[in-house]
Amino acid sequence: MEKLWMAPHGLHIEPAETGDAQRLAKLHEQGFFRGWPVADFTAFIADRQTPAYIACDAKRRISGFALIRLVADESELLTIAVDPKWRNKGIGRALLKAVFADLMLSPARKMFLEVDAENLSAVKLYERLGFATISSRKGYYPRPDGSAATALVMSRDLG
Ligand SMILES: CC(C)(COP(=O)(O)OP(=O)(O)OC[C@H]1O[C@@H](n2cnc3c(N)ncnc32)[C@H](O)[C@@H]1OP(=O)(O)O)[C@@H](O)C(=O)NCCC(=O)NCCS
Repeated sequence: MEKLWMAPHGLHIEPAETGDAQRLAKLHEQGFFRGWPVADFTAFIADRQTPAYIACDAKRRISGFALIRLVADESELLTIAVDPKWRNKGIGRALLKAVFADLMLSPARKMFLEVDAENLSAVKLYERLGFATISSRKGYYPRPDGSAATALVMSRDLG
């Protein structure tokens, strides 16, 4: 049976497919200072240890995605990005809730992530969904102006 979770605004969440790699690379580039090559997304999507989830409409037009890495009984949120036009509409939250539901069926019992401490929309989203800061790494993220930002390491039990 195909996996599918509800999302706001008539969208839904489903697993990404290889053909989505280009769109995911584009969304990622719009959300971060440094982009990742399309080939990396193609490889992630093909690898069962790095499942990707998309938010899309009935025509499969993609408005956001989340990429996870599974390692033994832990998992990591590698990246999450929502199309700038679709932000603040509950898509990021719906993506992560679908991920939590799907990982109930996996051995992963914890999720970790790293986030720029100054990325308030992301930090707020993670806190609302039960993540707590467990450590911070100074000078971790390079900035366009040559400075570097602090990274927070956050974690959440998956139940
Ligand atoms: C971070 C990101 C994925 C959030 O996705 P989103 O779809 O806009 O988030 P949602 O609409 O689901 O927001 C859920 C919660 O996050 C918080 N939030 C989201 N955007 C916010 C903002 N701009 N300011 C403050 N809080 C915000 C809110 O608390 C919201 O909870 P609420 O609905 O109860 O108020 C999106 O902003 C994005 O793609 N940013 C660029 C890429 C990025 O920074 N990714 C994360 C880095 S690891």
